Amino acid sequence: MWNRVHEATYRSRSNREFRSIFLAIVASISVICMLYFHVIESTKPSSQIASHELTQPQTLASAIHLVPSVEFTNGTVAMWRIPDSPKAAVFVAHGCNCRAANFWDKSPSCPDCVGLPEDRAIVLRALSRRFAVLTISSAGKCWSVRKDFRNVKWIIERWVAKYKLEKLPLTALGASSGGYFVSALAAEVRFSSIALMIAEGVFGSTDMPVVYPPTLFVHMPKDLRRAKLIEMNMELLRKKGVRVKEIRCLESPLTPTLLSERIPGLNEEFSVELYELFREKGFVDEKGFMRKDGRVTRWKQAAEERGLLSGKYEWVDHIQEELNLAYGYHEMTSLQADDILEWFEVNMD
Ligand SMILES: *[C@@H]1O[C@H](CO)[C@@H](O)[C@H](O)[C@H]1NC(C)=O
Repeated sequence: MWNRVHEATYRSRSNREFRSIFLAIVASISVICMLYFHVIESTKPSSQIASHELTQPQTLASAIHLVPSVEFTNGTVAMWRIPDSPKAAVFVAHGCNCRAANFWDKSPSCPDCVGLPEDRAIVLRALSRRFAVLTISSAGKCWSVRKDFRNVKWIIERWVAKYKLEKLPLTALGASSGGYFVSALAAEVRFSSIALMIAEGVFGSTDMPVVYPPTLFVHMPKDLRRAKLIEMNMELLRKKGVRVKEIRCLESPLTPTLLSERIPGLNEEFSVELYELFREKGFVDEKGFMRKDGRVTRWKQAAEERGLLSGKYEWVDHIQEELNLAYGYHEMTSLQADDILEWFEVNMD
């Protein structure tokens, strides 16, 4: 009897011990795996992006280093990334004075990459929804149909063929000048759908093809003139039987930590100091709304005079982008990235 009880206790104790040893081993293995994958993630070639690292919430997304594959071709540069089992592809066209490098994080393998907060967030969302992402720089400051059309069409088509993406829906997103360009490109490149951001697009009524892809307009109605043109173009497309939709983006207030929340790598103290300076100078109102567009707000001079910018010049463009977006007049925005990708997804057949 005693023996049996003892045996049972012993067995259960040994079970417990076994369980705790087992758990300890599992835990150490997971820690080792996590460390291992962490190292792999930061060193592996960009084409091997794993879906799990992209399906993280925004906070963790800032820890991801977005490293593109890069190719200098036809007098310009193409940067892209293809996720595991891609379900679609998207060509993203930047605005004036911008370039492909803005969409990808600065890293040893891409020292010229900029990683602007909105641009990189769009790429990140697209990759997490298994879109292969291609960015190309315009030949000049802005896109030009004359200078860029033939090259870009060629680069997109070769990229699609080279990476065997022919069977996947091909989509395009263009912001501002990139929006005009994408709207023109869509007349010849077979996109399943397109999204034009802060751009009314160009739809030459005479040379408009019979089949034109569904078009989403993502715009900032504070820009009244453009909102009017978009309304007209939406009507024009509707009359031609083209599916259209619009998403309006409104201004939003700054908060003391908004800049550090949205710009990976920018520290919170700096963000708070800038916000306090903006309040003091009246760049933002008592609710935190920008009084003027970021571009005409003399925030750089003010920050410089206060000595806040020394050693921080690398962040000027990133901050500028967030201030423009907060004002909500004309800027790249990732806030509607999921809506845009959804538009691409529902228009795939
Ligand atoms: C782009 O460059 C390739 C390789 O040099 C060339 O074969 C191709 O014709 C060029 N495309 C255009 C549109 O010029």
